[in-house]
Amino acid sequence: MRHVLAAEQFSRADLLQIMDQAAEMEKIIAAGGSRMAAGKLLATFFYEPSTRTRLSFETAMQRLGGSVISTSNATFSSVTKGETVEDTVRILAGYADVIAMRSKEKGYAARGAKVSSVPILNAGDGPGEHPTQSLLDLYTIKKEFGLERPLRVVFVGDLKYGRTVHSLSQILRNFSNVSIDWVGPAELAIQPEYTAEGDRFFTELTDEVLESVDVLYDTRVQEERFADHDEYLRLRDVYIIDPEKVSKMKPDAIIMHPLPRVNEITASVDALPQARYFQQAINGVPVRMALIARALELI
Ligand code: NCD
Repeated sequence: MRHVLAAEQFSRADLLQIMDQAAEMEKIIAAGGSRMAAGKLLATFFYEPSTRTRLSFETAMQRLGGSVISTSNATFSSVTKGETVEDTVRILAGYADVIAMRSKEKGYAARGAKVSSVPILNAGDGPGEHPTQSLLDLYTIKKEFGLERPLRVVFVGDLKYGRTVHSLSQILRNFSNVSIDWVGPAELAIQPEYTAEGDRFFTELTDEVLESVDVLYDTRVQEERFADHDEYLRLRDVYIIDPEKVSKMKPDAIIMHPLPRVNEITASVDALPQARYFQQAINGVPVRMALIARALELI
């Protein structure tokens, strides 16, 4: 079954194919949508807050001509009565043809997939992974630079809890033209399993990093994952991207962020040519259309 659970499941060939399929989906959107998934149902089941991810999955399904059932806030669901993820998924799989799910806990999508009779799309499992986000991130990078030329990608912020960082860094390892730098406070350092030989590690966002970066991938400090709120308050504003920092970047470099941003990028950066985070979020629709169509074996 075509589950999407973790970045490591994709080969380079899979990734390139998904990128081509997403480009086709972009044409379909421009042409007014498709009836490809008519009669099919997507269930979105989110145990954690989301705006973009859930709504872009739902938009994607509707652009494919399918329908959606949704629990936007799983605290209204039987999970709060103690229902296990396995039981919830078994039932949803009896209603829908594909399930997109988000959980507070790492590993829930994989647990759901074990008992599901329909494909599961992991829309973020706690501090674990967010593979569909990283595919739209890759699509954004590909549209900007292609996937051949040498590229320096710098991950900034909460490298420990930022699940989008975990998934995207693994996906980028399929492209030997990409080199990775990590910029984060020691308390939020990247786990060794995501690092590779040749990576560079910084605790400061130095001028040298800003001057050499092609893709600056910034992240929110993940408040909800901290046991100690004071530690969150101490770490949340360590790196603030403002126009002065951006002025040190190359004119054709881009700033990405999975959003929501809090303080880490000032609003005055939004109008600068390097800002790419809003376009990045919009790219979620064609990429998720491709992922749903693949899961349903329509393409
Ligand atoms: C991210 C997430 O949920 O992991 N948001 C998203 O899906 N676009 C990043 C975040 O919440 O900071």
